[in-house]
Amino acid sequence: MKFNNEVSKIFVLTRLAKSPHLKQLLFREEMESTNQIGLGLLESSELALPALILCDSQTAGRGRGANQWESGTGSLTFSLLLPSAQDSEIPITLLSLASGWSIRETILSFAPELDVKIKWPNDVLIGNQKVAGVLIQTNTKGVVVGAGVNLNNKVKLETATSLASELQNDIHHTDFLERLLERLFESFELARVNSEEFLSACEDSIAWIGQTIQMNCSGKRISGTFLGLDRNGGIRLRDKLETKFIYSASDIRNLEPEN
Ligand code: BTN
Repeated sequence: MKFNNEVSKIFVLTRLAKSPHLKQLLFREEMESTNQIGLGLLESSELALPALILCDSQTAGRGRGANQWESGTGSLTFSLLLPSAQDSEIPITLLSLASGWSIRETILSFAPELDVKIKWPNDVLIGNQKVAGVLIQTNTKGVVVGAGVNLNNKVKLETATSLASELQNDIHHTDFLERLLERLFESFELARVNSEEFLSACEDSIAWIGQTIQMNCSGKRISGTFLGLDRNGGIRLRDKLETKFIYSASDIRNLEPEN
């Protein structure tokens, strides 16, 4: 495994470089966006894949849609670069779910007492507050799975939280990331070889199943009962007339009274 010689203030890079899943690790103390760097490197075919793009701090993190991703000191931000979805034989919807699920499983491995759910497809919530988000971007050369986890940072938004605020103590970045990388590769493999088993394991952790939800879908606001996941990892949504299958949506909200 190749990795560059810069030194991190928060990660033990020599430990991460031992991951049997990674062929290359690129670290810089500061990056604008690990996804942006990742997309560029994929395009120029400069890295052996899978590769990890990692920084101590990100200055212009991107979120889904037109959103930015603010990552304060102590947060964890990285991108995993994979061969194209076709080569790795996992549909993006499953890759996306598997990413959120792996973050959830990693959090629970440190703090089993927390109520951690996935807001479809891959926001990770503690209670009703967001603790992590994933941005998947692709180009012809591969897939970038970018993850931002509020680990040891202080979060100002009422709708978000961090693991340290929930636990009243910090978790070491390297310990968390090492475990998360294991979970990510395990779940990608399970989703690839047995998507049915993966989806049934995953379904229990999805928020708001059985409840009325509303979302933006192809420019329209639609709502219905969230029945569960379909065989490709999409949402099965029952409205008055029919069951719809949703693979891409934004601004998903729970319309149940207590939310
Ligand atoms: C979202 O919830 O909107 C997705 C947030 C994804 C943020 C991560 S941080 C690491 C990677 N690099 C980025 O610029 N964005 C993703």
